[in-house]
Amino acid sequence: MASRGGAFAAGALVLLLALAVQGAAERKPLVPAMFVFGDSLVDVGNNNHLPRCNASCRADYPRYGVDLPCHSPTGRFSNGYNLADRLAQLLGFPESPPPLLSLPKERLVPQMSSGGINFASGGAGLLDRTGPRVCGGEVLSMTAQVDKFTRLARLWRRENRSAAGLISRSLFFISVGSNDLFEYIDSPPAPTRNDTQQTNRNDTQFLQDLVASYTCYVKDLYAAGARKFSVVSPSLVGCSPSQRALAHAPGRGPIGVDKFGCLAAANNLSRQLQPMLAAMLQGLGLELRRMNYSLGDAVGMAEFVFKSPSTPAYNFTELGRACCGGGVFGEGGCDDSAPLCRNRSSYVFWDRFHPTEAASAVTANELFLDTGLFVRPINVQQLVVAPRP
Ligand SMILES: *[C@@H]1O[C@H](CO)[C@@H](O)[C@H](O)[C@H]1NC(C)=O
Ligand SMILES: *[C@@H]1O[C@H](CO)[C@@H](O)[C@H](O)[C@H]1NC(C)=O
Ligand SMILES: *[C@@H]1O[C@H](CO)[C@@H](O)[C@H](O)[C@H]1NC(C)=O
Ligand SMILES: *[C@@H]1O[C@H](CO)[C@@H](O)[C@H](O)[C@H]1NC(C)=O
Ligand SMILES: *[C@@H]1O[C@H](CO)[C@@H](O)[C@H](O)[C@H]1NC(C)=O
Ligand SMILES: *[C@@H]1O[C@H](CO)[C@@H](O)[C@H](O)[C@H]1NC(C)=O
Ligand SMILES: *[C@@H]1O[C@H](CO)[C@@H](O)[C@H](O)[C@H]1NC(C)=O
Ligand SMILES: *[C@@H]1O[C@H](CO)[C@@H](O)[C@H](O)[C@H]1NC(C)=O
Repeated sequence: MASRGGAFAAGALVLLLALAVQGAAERKPLVPAMFVFGDSLVDVGNNNHLPRCNASCRADYPRYGVDLPCHSPTGRFSNGYNLADRLAQLLGFPESPPPLLSLPKERLVPQMSSGGINFASGGAGLLDRTGPRVCGGEVLSMTAQVDKFTRLARLWRRENRSAAGLISRSLFFISVGSNDLFEYIDSPPAPTRNDTQQTNRNDTQFLQDLVASYTCYVKDLYAAGARKFSVVSPSLVGCSPSQRALAHAPGRGPIGVDKFGCLAAANNLSRQLQPMLAAMLQGLGLELRRMNYSLGDAVGMAEFVFKSPSTPAYNFTELGRACCGGGVFGEGGCDDSAPLCRNRSSYVFWDRFHPTEAASAVTANELFLDTGLFVRPINVQQLVVAPRP
């Protein structure tokens, strides 16, 4: 539980950040490049280029992007910038590096050395099977994202002697896992799967499988030269408007609502997974020479915000509803015809699944500056200034 002192510390932190962001534009970025992996929390438009990926996992239509400088959709699942952008800005970049799939072949290797590439894909998860079923058939899986980086890194190193050094000083930012939890919770009993099997699901086994996959991705990136990892755990997925709607649907007997009005079973999974990720990274830190990491506890951050929404650093007034979308929780979906809330920055959630730019900014600020409350063992600022690995 966050203490009152904690509340003050976090508030002070986020306010400081406003200054840091302003200063960022004028300074040289803190890292040569940033490479981003994961899901829709950090996708900046890769899915726009996947022909079979449908509107459920795309954000290239209005009202996405209403608060971006150009006020138009880019593929970011937000009203404005997302978590990758906000963290990139704290590092001194104007926004996230460009999406891999937007780059012509001849620009791929040069882009590796000039700011990095974003490989993330909305709908993707730790498991390869997560995503396609929901998205109409296609996402860039984590396996594909890591594989694409590994191949590019090999090409780059072959071309340029300085590549290995640049990769080792770059930031590898990973935000993934929520979709695995969403699909696990939501999956209706498949035709081949009867009720006995449903209740026999083994949560521990499932979560261990997720962690095993995560371990492989980190090891593969390390083998390709990555040394500095910023990882953010899945947040309280049961508190997204989509899951709140499930929890409050009439007639869902065994599914409980927790103290935040969220889907308890889903939040339980998030809470169990977080320490497992912490243990995984701690183990890898001991095993892999010169690997350094910063783990953001998004569960702790979310609990903090839900318990003290009116902290002056963000003043959230709406914690459960989606800003964009009809119905109580935004069930109507967020498109051109969807109702839009008036004051986006007072909402935590933009649509049924994704935070507003304001909420992403709070998370990014914590990742960058938190002093041990929700980010361990070091924050991203400490990670990037760490001595040359
Ligand atoms: C996308 O495809 C999935 C799987 O086929 C389907 O369930 C979903 O309704 C589709 N979404 C849209 C918006 O067409
Ligand atoms: C190698 O990379 C460095 C740093 O990005 C760059 O300055 C240099 O021009 C590159 N050399 C070649 C041969 O591409
Ligand atoms: C339901 O699953 C149980 C356990 O796997 C199995 O023994 C049983 O035969 C299944 N029943 C049906 C109708 O498929
Ligand atoms: C669930 O899986 C874990 C890990 O494989 C195992 O230790 C445990 O016994 C399983 N529990 C049940 C009820 O099958
Ligand atoms: C959530 O976890 C708590 C404590 O581990 C447990 O008591 C509760 O039954 C769980 N709730 C659901 C819905 O799984
Ligand atoms: C939150 O409200 C307080 C008091 O009205 C105000 O001083 C502060 O600037 C607000 N913070 C934000 C982020 O809007
Ligand atoms: C919008 O929301 C923010 C954060 O809650 C608040 O500080 C600000 O005063 C609000 N603006 C208006 C016009 O209501
Ligand atoms: C990780 O970064 C911290 C903070 O800069 C530094 O003290 C530590 O030596 C680094 N660890 C490794 C293994 O590079």
